[in-house]
Amino acid sequence: PLPRPFTAPLPVPPVLAPVRADADTDFYEIVQRPATVEILPGVPTTIWGYNGIFPGPTLVSRSGRTTIVRHRNELPVPVVVHLHGGHTPPQHDGYPTDLILPTGTLTGHPDPSGVVARGQRDYEYPLLQRAATLWYHDHRMDFTGPAVWRGLAGFHLVHDSEEDTLPLPRGELDLPLMIADRSFDADGSLRYPSLDPTLLHRPGVQEPYHAGVLGDVILVNGAPWPIADVPAVRHRLRLLNASNARRYRLSLDPPPPGGGALVQIGADGGLLDRPVVHDTIEIAPAQRYDVIVDFGRYRTGQEVTLVNGFGSGTAARVMRFRIGARVPDDTAIPERLSETVPLRRLDAVVTRTMVFQSTGAGWTINGQPFDPQHADVRPQLGSVEIWRLISDFHHPVHLHLSAFQVLSRGTGGPGPYDHGWKDTVDLRPAEEVSVIVRFERYAGRYVFHCHNLEHEDMMMMGNFQTR
Ligand code: C2O
Ligand code: CU
Repeated sequence: PLPRPFTAPLPVPPVLAPVRADADTDFYEIVQRPATVEILPGVPTTIWGYNGIFPGPTLVSRSGRTTIVRHRNELPVPVVVHLHGGHTPPQHDGYPTDLILPTGTLTGHPDPSGVVARGQRDYEYPLLQRAATLWYHDHRMDFTGPAVWRGLAGFHLVHDSEEDTLPLPRGELDLPLMIADRSFDADGSLRYPSLDPTLLHRPGVQEPYHAGVLGDVILVNGAPWPIADVPAVRHRLRLLNASNARRYRLSLDPPPPGGGALVQIGADGGLLDRPVVHDTIEIAPAQRYDVIVDFGRYRTGQEVTLVNGFGSGTAARVMRFRIGARVPDDTAIPERLSETVPLRRLDAVVTRTMVFQSTGAGWTINGQPFDPQHADVRPQLGSVEIWRLISDFHHPVHLHLSAFQVLSRGTGGPGPYDHGWKDTVDLRPAEEVSVIVRFERYAGRYVFHCHNLEHEDMMMMGNFQTR
């Protein structure tokens, strides 16, 4: 039986302390291992966790300071770590075949050519980028979906001095919320329809799940439909959709008097230049929306539910807030958040067309299934490009290395959820979206792909080679 919603307290993932720091670098260590945790009340669930927890520990970095994370792999499969939204050199970006083999012996796995490490490796993140809500997750070729489903995902927040000067809610009023749906078997184990439950040999999911795996339990920070007691003041909610395939249409029920519950201040790539007021926010897999919610607009004692307009049954609700005492609120939402310079169409040196569609070869881009040997495109570093993304279905399209801006959606301008710097854009069926991007700083091979993790595992991924 499913747990009663709004009884589990909202967990907040612990912030990881560095093992040491020097003048310009912070060093961290994470062990990836199986662990048994209690997600549903009274039943044990075995997860794969960064430090044995799901979500993994939150990393907090300063823009411009290098972060080095030593990942040790005590799982029974190879792993790859990708910092999603990171502006990262190619050898540290978590290319899908750059494997860290397990510390133990791995029986029966073909020795893959891409192995970069046995047991552990250091990922180095220069973080020459704006303050933003990033996240890290597994990215192994063919097996990202089941690995993330088992728990390999965590937040990585970047702060900078521009953000520091703003009177935004911080500390306990700055809540990262990782929303992810999961299914469970009666014994508490996570249920994922892998063709090969060892996640070593045969990739893919059972036929009925080809469009993506959905769960009937909505977890926030690893707890089912949790409840959070919040003082009646403004909060910053860092919404992350870490689901494999589920999209959400989020709103607060009841809405505050006068509406406009969700004031968006940031997107995947950091602060917007100005706040944007929403009643609802549509969030596709891998996307982040930073919003300010003023719980001071509600009565003390009131219960406010974060609901999902795209979900039915158990998936229609996400979590609940219980409004506490009214306390002085010294936060504010400034009219001007940041200076972001729009990229200009006339600066683009090329327009490329990428068609995301299902073919006889599976989920493909321009008819091609993913091939690590094949560089689809070779952008010049420093140059601006327009990518026309065309789809047959829902595809959250993600580019590594560089954030982009949305130029148009269909025949109109950007949609209501397309503001600011993004790294993942929500492509809807039979839609065309144009994005503009400047590829910068690091030369090498990167991927772009659909972030519906089942589509990604079934080859909806391509390479670009910056030069
Ligand atoms: Cu969040 Cu290529 O991934
Ligand atoms: Cu897709």
